[in-house]
Amino acid sequence: MTRVHVTASREYDVLIGQGLIDRSGALTAEVLPPCRCMLVSDSTVAALYAQRVSDSFVQAGYDVSTFTFPAGESSKTMKTLEALLNAMGASGLSRSDFVVALGGGVVGDLAGLAAAVYSRGVPFVQIPTTLLAAVDSSVGGKTAVDMPFGKNMVGAFHQPSLVLTDTDALRALPRELITCGAGEIIKCGVLNDPELFAWMETGHWLDRIETVVARCVAYKRDIVAEDEFDTGRRAFLNLGHTFGHAIEQCSGLSVPHGMAVGLGALMAAAAAGCDEALLRRLARCLTVNGLPVRCPYPASALAEAALADKKRSGRQITLVLPQDIGRCVLQKTPVAELPGLFSKALAALEALEL
Ligand code: GLY
Repeated sequence: MTRVHVTASREYDVLIGQGLIDRSGALTAEVLPPCRCMLVSDSTVAALYAQRVSDSFVQAGYDVSTFTFPAGESSKTMKTLEALLNAMGASGLSRSDFVVALGGGVVGDLAGLAAAVYSRGVPFVQIPTTLLAAVDSSVGGKTAVDMPFGKNMVGAFHQPSLVLTDTDALRALPRELITCGAGEIIKCGVLNDPELFAWMETGHWLDRIETVVARCVAYKRDIVAEDEFDTGRRAFLNLGHTFGHAIEQCSGLSVPHGMAVGLGALMAAAAAGCDEALLRRLARCLTVNGLPVRCPYPASALAEAALADKKRSGRQITLVLPQDIGRCVLQKTPVAELPGLFSKALAALEALEL
């Protein structure tokens, strides 16, 4: 088992290893004394793991209630949040009790926000069961629900008390969820870690999944320690997001987030003017891992999607631009320049004839 210690407004461990789901109660008891807890999951993950997690917590002396909601981003709403808060109230959760988030990013965001606001804040434990949640969203304390006026528009920074990542659950994921996670891991390699990127290039990184997850978490830990509230360096974690969000929107959300982020990172490298060898290397790494390298949408549609999103946050956006594998820079860019950047990126990718 690997332990990554996070120092933020709350200090906590991220534990990564085999068989942690069945030890989740005992491991939690090392940081939160036996009390009541609300186990939150979605319909897919609950069917797989909720009973085992619940049994483990009961065995460790906790009084466990459960709340399950339909799987999918469409559940990440105020309505589900309200239902969860009502369930917490009905089960008599007090300020000294806590929430357990068992699932992917949607579960973590929603349960984390419930923990942030219930009784003005109770602790929570993250048990991420997707690769994307394990390497990114379960660490760092961002919680949110989506609103009609935008994704993640209502939320809070609320750090977990413990993160438990069971690598057996990650290995058992369906291929598409592994692929989506690979997009986030490649992003981490491009940002900071040439060795991690080289592992991803082989396509055989699942053999060392504990180390891979730990490397991504340790990088995020360092960023969060310096910029917990996302006013500076944390923006690096958005590599591939400006291009990726535009792809997601143009596809009507049929291209999943992790895949869009991988392709978005390639487009960011192309927009940054990276040389052909680097673009080919990045494209090959994406292909080996089953991620797309071609963007079927025209620059005008991508720019429109990005502008619709970015106009809210003012006239400038911060782009994350790769310079090399393991090195990126932040660049404040007027939103008016986005259409030109999309055109430049698409032209550079087309010239590669991938
Ligand atoms: N997922 C990006 C962040 O935590 O800042």
